[in-house]
Amino acid sequence: MDIFYDKVIADPKLKPFFDGVDMTRQRNKQRAFLTYAFGGTINYSGKNIRDAHKHLVQKGMNSTHFDAVMGHLGNTLQELSVPDDLIQEAAQIAMSVKNDVLDR
Ligand code: HEM
Repeated sequence: MDIFYDKVIADPKLKPFFDGVDMTRQRNKQRAFLTYAFGGTINYSGKNIRDAHKHLVQKGMNSTHFDAVMGHLGNTLQELSVPDDLIQEAAQIAMSVKNDVLDR
């Protein structure tokens, strides 16, 4: 989680979306994201993925940003020597919510 999150925050095109988001929420988001990506149950405030990201779409979040986050996830898993087939699986699960995240 730390490696993934550091990569996302260090990415200048992604960082602005996290400005003003408090640290506790950021940590919760990070945990919820990876739980989701690995197919676990999601247990958070109750907002669905679409509602949780609507305000970010209004701020200009689009598929470029989504793909960048996916890239950071894949690189993180690679760094941790996760086998490619499992990385593919995690990416497929994450991709399944792309339209919800982007509110389309
Ligand atoms: C597979 C893709 C994604 C999943 C599964 C996911 C999951 C989540 C979850 C579970 C939350 C917490 C919502 C809540 O507690 O209210 C959240 C919030 C958030 N997500 Fe995502 N996310 C994804 C993609 C993205 C992308 C591409 C960005 C763009 C940089 C992003 C930026 C954020 C931010 C900034 C928050 C905090 C919003 C706030 O508190 O104002 N997410 N996400």
